[in-house]
Amino acid sequence: MVDPETFVPEAIEEIEEAVDGHAVIALSGGVDSSTAATLAYEALGDRLTPVYVDTGLMRKGETEEVRETFGYVEGLRIVDARDRFLDALAGVTDPEEKRHVVGERFIREFETVANEVDADYLVQGTIYPDRIESEGTIKSHHNVGGLPDVVDFEGIVEPMRDLYKDEVREVARHLGLDEVVSERMPFPGPGLAVRIVGEVTDGKLRVAREANHVVEEELADHDPWQALAAVLGKATGVKGDNRVHGWVVAVRSVESRDGMTARAQDVDWETLQRIQSRITGENPNVARVLYDVTHKPPATIEYE
Ligand code: XMP
Repeated sequence: MVDPETFVPEAIEEIEEAVDGHAVIALSGGVDSSTAATLAYEALGDRLTPVYVDTGLMRKGETEEVRETFGYVEGLRIVDARDRFLDALAGVTDPEEKRHVVGERFIREFETVANEVDADYLVQGTIYPDRIESEGTIKSHHNVGGLPDVVDFEGIVEPMRDLYKDEVREVARHLGLDEVVSERMPFPGPGLAVRIVGEVTDGKLRVAREANHVVEEELADHDPWQALAAVLGKATGVKGDNRVHGWVVAVRSVESRDGMTARAQDVDWETLQRIQSRITGENPNVARVLYDVTHKPPATIEYE
């Protein structure tokens, strides 16, 4: 286990030594990028520009939370790219292609800001499992590998490259980050795009965003490693006196140490029913809610 007392000053020193000029970091609202950004800010101050791209694929309230957490950083840039992501994703149904479209769009948005602020260096919150999964053939993680090829950086600094998620949380607590951030469940770079099976549309996104919010809230006291909702497709249901063709939402909650393997969590019936009733109640176009009992392997945690 990492010792934050020694890790933090070493990481700050590493960033100070590596960056000779201006650096950018992509924020996502998650614990990894927030921790890396805090370390980088300690090291660089106003030579750091944190960039948050609002892809529209993020969790409910994420943009506001980033603004709250990093509002103190003068150079913070928030880019509203929601329409551009939705346009880029129109008609894309293949899971890997979806990831690439999101990754590519993200790079373009990021590149624009990096050029504007004349950044020569990139700080990334990459952690150990990201590197392992991207090296293998499991899935292409968009927060690894893409950026450096496109934006011509002089150097890339990844101060947390050898840490596991629980170690990052230790460091985040040590740095005094808000609990909302330090204890936050992992959330994938491509966001809700990988929690929607098939094409990403505005309508499906709205269902996915609300359903994920309900699941996070209702399962918080079950302390899952990760809990999520995915929009699968359509099925028949009945609302009032009418048969409806509504969305099928899958709920998934897993226990894990690092996301490489995971066990579906044993969630009690009452909680599951409460989730079901909130999701169908708050979204009139959801016809069914399912609970996913599959471990990883054979399933992955995300749906695409
Ligand atoms: P899977 O679905 O592969 O997920 O079992 C394992 C862990 O990785 C997260 N994940 C991602 N994180 N970019 C990310 O930053 C991605 O493209 C990505 N895909 C999956 C997932 O949420 C889980 O925590």
